[in-house]
Amino acid sequence: MGGRSMTMTFTSSRPRTASETWPVAFLDRENRIRYESTTGTVIATALRDRGYFVFKSVLASRRDFVNCYLLFDELCNAVSHDRSIADRLYAAVQEWQAEGDIARYFCGVPAGFKTRNDRDGSSGHRFKDYLQYTLAFAQSNAFRRSGLQSFPCVAQLYESLAELHFTCSGLFTQAIKSICNLANQSLYSRLVYDDRLAPVVIKVLRYRRNPLRWATDPHFDKSALSLIIHSDDEEFSVRLGAQGSGAIRLSELRSPISYPKSPVDPNDAVLITGLCLREMGLGEFPPSPHLVLPVTDRPFRHSIVAFYLVPYLRGTDILRTTVNFINDVDGRIT
Ligand SMILES: [Fe+2]
Repeated sequence: MGGRSMTMTFTSSRPRTASETWPVAFLDRENRIRYESTTGTVIATALRDRGYFVFKSVLASRRDFVNCYLLFDELCNAVSHDRSIADRLYAAVQEWQAEGDIARYFCGVPAGFKTRNDRDGSSGHRFKDYLQYTLAFAQSNAFRRSGLQSFPCVAQLYESLAELHFTCSGLFTQAIKSICNLANQSLYSRLVYDDRLAPVVIKVLRYRRNPLRWATDPHFDKSALSLIIHSDDEEFSVRLGAQGSGAIRLSELRSPISYPKSPVDPNDAVLITGLCLREMGLGEFPPSPHLVLPVTDRPFRHSIVAFYLVPYLRGTDILRTTVNFINDVDGRIT
């Protein structure tokens, strides 16, 4: 493994404009997947009314994502043999976050790496490993001084995620523009800063097999928007889509992407609302509850998710992410 062969080559990093139409998928009234071109208004309306929106043909090649997962596995293996890699990354992140207004701009969400045996010993991470990437950290002096780029898996993974950052930034910015056009244009300047890298965090995850436990418990994201970019699922295993103030039932949640997929099909990505839209005054956009089904059929499930944060928003550390949830389908799963 090495060199450019492991590098993802995502499509356009060019931010899209409000007038441009995107090919997208949606569920019709009979819950059938349909595809059509649409505009930003449709995206914002779907996020307001349903809490999610499916993009089609936006992010490229499944093979690129699989290569990313191989690099992440390599990084996890390296960390399991040499804890100093994770410690050096942790120290570099701490140093970076102490610079200027970084911590407030990124809303206190750290770049970093967590594994089952991480330093905080949190039981919540027993079943997953993850890397949180921000381009601003990758370009920082703190990261350069860490020397971690000398590890090929780190260097190649970071190079790939840098490309993905620009693709996601364009998508998020377009969606935010559409949301603000629909609801409150004056809030746009609180979310988008033309003179800085977008406040985007990309998370690469792998969940271990555990048939009796949700891979990710039912929850809301703390982000403004989240983009469920890709997973190596044979069947899409994220469930989402219910709205309302009462308890969420598993039977009410849905899978917005139809599977199985042909390997040559373009990738689907699902955009969902997080808690911070409401927190910053966009109360028409409630957060979207979601979960990841148990991993039953393989040692690991890999996925990539991106988050768009709200710079300088206060109080995000005490937001309640837990969903009032009823499993009315399979009581064995906790
Ligand atoms: Fe989430």
